Amino acid sequence: MGTPPFEEALNTRAPARRASGRRRCAVLARTVVLLFLAASAASAQKPGALVSARRGMAVSACERASAVGARIMREGGNAVDAAVAMGFALAVTYPSAGNLGGGAYIIIRMADGREAAIDARETAPAAATATMYLDATGAVLRNASLRGPRAAGVPGSVDGLLTALARFGSLDRARVLAPALELADAGYRLKKHEAMFLESQRPAFAEFPSTLRVYGASPHREGSRFRQPDLAAALRRIAREGRDGFYLGETAEYIVRQMREGGGLITHADLAGYSCIVRKPLHGSYRDRELLTMPPSSAGGIGLVQMLNILERHDIAGMGAGTPATLHLLAEAMRRAYADRWKYLGDPAYVDIPQERLVSKDYAGNLDTSIDAARATPSAAVRPGGPAREGGGQTTHYSVADRWGNAVSVTTTLNSICGGKCVVDGAGFLLNNEMDDFTIKPGEANQFGLVGSDANRIEAGKRMLSSMTPTIVLRGGAVELILGSPGGSTITTTVLQVLLNILEFAMPLDRAVSAPRMHHQWMPDSLYHEPRAMDRAAAATLAAMGHVLKERPAIGRVDAVYYHAASATWFGCSDRRGHGAAIGY
Ligand code: GLY
Repeated sequence: MGTPPFEEALNTRAPARRASGRRRCAVLARTVVLLFLAASAASAQKPGALVSARRGMAVSACERASAVGARIMREGGNAVDAAVAMGFALAVTYPSAGNLGGGAYIIIRMADGREAAIDARETAPAAATATMYLDATGAVLRNASLRGPRAAGVPGSVDGLLTALARFGSLDRARVLAPALELADAGYRLKKHEAMFLESQRPAFAEFPSTLRVYGASPHREGSRFRQPDLAAALRRIAREGRDGFYLGETAEYIVRQMREGGGLITHADLAGYSCIVRKPLHGSYRDRELLTMPPSSAGGIGLVQMLNILERHDIAGMGAGTPATLHLLAEAMRRAYADRWKYLGDPAYVDIPQERLVSKDYAGNLDTSIDAARATPSAAVRPGGPAREGGGQTTHYSVADRWGNAVSVTTTLNSICGGKCVVDGAGFLLNNEMDDFTIKPGEANQFGLVGSDANRIEAGKRMLSSMTPTIVLRGGAVELILGSPGGSTITTTVLQVLLNILEFAMPLDRAVSAPRMHHQWMPDSLYHEPRAMDRAAAATLAAMGHVLKERPAIGRVDAVYYHAASATWFGCSDRRGHGAAIGY
């Protein structure tokens, strides 16, 4: 592995052999960090900037939500209190993916060693069937799994956030919900990009009168105040009654009414019966680092560990960042992990997943021997799959760390941008369209071009497969890195590359996050890449090796936190690809 990250960023070198040299280096490192901290005193900066702080850090895709997290920690809350407050705040300020009507995965690692992977993924309603999005001839009903109430799974985020708070938080519910309530009640002034985003969604919102009432009543302009009184009332019911304030009573009634009106399937019994699952995080390792990530019902954690296990067998640092050799190896590791995703993964309550084998180092050795260093393996030779549909999706990730060393990594989603575009009338929040993450028909691709197998077929009460990969990396038993990303099928490969940028290529956090990325998902057999991911010569080399190259404007959007132990400093970075912010305290 390369030089530890931040030694480079802070212009310090690796420790010298002599003790006096080490002391000099430590003093120099501390001095440079102090200067750096002084220079970044504002502590929230433009997306892509490296932000530092001594006590803690909140990083999300929305500056207001990050500010909520920092405020809660400043007022004495821990990272879990902050993360829960941020989750509810994002439901108010980040409608493309923040949610009450969606799902989430939450990885928690407390400084005392306690840990949890909260699976708050949506579930299929009891009346859902494997063929519910097919017509009488067995053909896929276009958009049926993507738009409106029928595309929604039973929401999980509220139960997941409240469970995290009850088990690991230190503040009471009303206190952590207060900032979100204020934002919904009093409203907030739209930034230019927020006004433009809402206007861009107007044609889709227009399909649902309830959505137009909330998001399209009048034209949105930069600086205009955006209030959400129905959402405030829904949040108040949660603050007062906890999960019952969402899954029972008035809010539940609004959801069920919206279902009846729009042909959806979620019933009062589905809502009352929903429960998140507190799982053990999936543990992996990469050289001397330990990794806590999301087990199934997400495919993300297993895929990430599989790819890291393969890559660990190679001298990645020696091969170099962005070289054809490295990009080829990454593509081949990704191709194999995604083929296994197709074959084996689904909700573990319904499918037997050979998890131990998939994440074993031995199995990675087998996969590795099938990789030809000089030629791309055609995906059809790895495992046959089907054609892809084009599509875009939206999810969001946020990372939080506090002064005690507690860490939280949360990825939450409505699936597509603004989910199924339908607001629950009277309750003011958008419903997810997560049902599209199930296999709608074996061999058919979903909106991310992912082909599904029977393991992920729709069944009543089942969790649909996900790629979300909230992750925490430990070094010597202490938190070093917290990260995750949106991006549908590209989530796991995005997390992988940021990890490698730090652990192998010794990049400081901001460079690791902003560095160009690539992606391969086995089917379609294409190597996707951002424009700057390779130069012409590298592209020609990869094409000659048999890779089918396809350019994409952006892959993933990472919100990450890094702890630099030598200077006892938290660093945060919100991806330059978005409009978020890292805010330290
Ligand atoms: N909805 C995107 C995912 O869960 O992977």
